[in-house]
Amino acid sequence: MTPPKGAKAPIPIGPLTGKRTPLRRLFARTCAAVNRTLDLLPGSRWLHGRVQRTLEMPDLELRLAADAAHGLDGLRLAFVSDVHAGSFMNGRDLAAIFERIAAARPDLVLFGGDLINTRERELLLFRDALARLEPRHGMFAVPGNHDHFFGRDIGLWTSFLRSHGVEVLLNRGRRIVHGEATLWLAGVDDLTEGEPDIAGALAGRRDGEPAILLSHHPDFFFEAAAAGVELTLSGHTHGGQIRVAGRAPIHHSRFGYEQGWFEVDGCRLYVGRGVGVTVLPLRIGAPPEIPFVTLRAGVECSADAAMLDRRADPAPSRSPTA
Ligand SMILES: [Fe+2]
Repeated sequence: MTPPKGAKAPIPIGPLTGKRTPLRRLFARTCAAVNRTLDLLPGSRWLHGRVQRTLEMPDLELRLAADAAHGLDGLRLAFVSDVHAGSFMNGRDLAAIFERIAAARPDLVLFGGDLINTRERELLLFRDALARLEPRHGMFAVPGNHDHFFGRDIGLWTSFLRSHGVEVLLNRGRRIVHGEATLWLAGVDDLTEGEPDIAGALAGRRDGEPAILLSHHPDFFFEAAAAGVELTLSGHTHGGQIRVAGRAPIHHSRFGYEQGWFEVDGCRLYVGRGVGVTVLPLRIGAPPEIPFVTLRAGVECSADAAMLDRRADPAPSRSPTA
């Protein structure tokens, strides 16, 4: 059977920037106030508990074409994004989710940003949860817009994670050595609240070395694809979080990168729906997700046989966004 391909990525029009306007910042603060109010209601936690029972952990495969990828065959990573800890979720809930990740025994755990929701102290909820994870090649993270906007100091965010075993890849990368093979694992800052720098993230990557990039915002994919990054992992969209008749009323990607696989010139983007929620303790038609990606050595350098999504319904969103 021919593996399903990712949706063809549309060509971006205009400058690639998601910077927030003052109006959007006011909207974000208003949403945060609503979220905090709802968080006080016992019914909200009950609703969110029902959402979390639908958490999916799909097994995906990415076939790498580079000759250098042969030794990476079987390397397995977990991608954890948009936890939004504190939003209808306490430390015990988080620990239970991380126990499930640990039980699946990934080689790497990658955090795709938005660990916190609306308060810097929500990061403390990760203390016990992170202690449950010990992947053999380590844990890595990039910040999301909530980590910047609601955290007062991204330096504190970084040092907290570092002291709990998570290396933050803020516009930089590092080499993962897996037997005889290597992988360049990189991360960029958030597109809307930070200053992503692909050159910094890839500085040090060897010629022909397979690369994986963490970028909270999926719209940065064009930069990654232009630089020949084999796989970009993003979140931010929550898969729409609430979908009506299969469509999300609120869009978080200018290019329709809502969920699932996308490709451009043989480079891949996977947009995960994330773990948590924002504003409302609800998800409709977009269940929470922690994807696991297993790398496979490609037989030929062919974009056609580049990946396989094993989920029952792998169709990614193709709808254009505002
Ligand atoms: Fe986000």
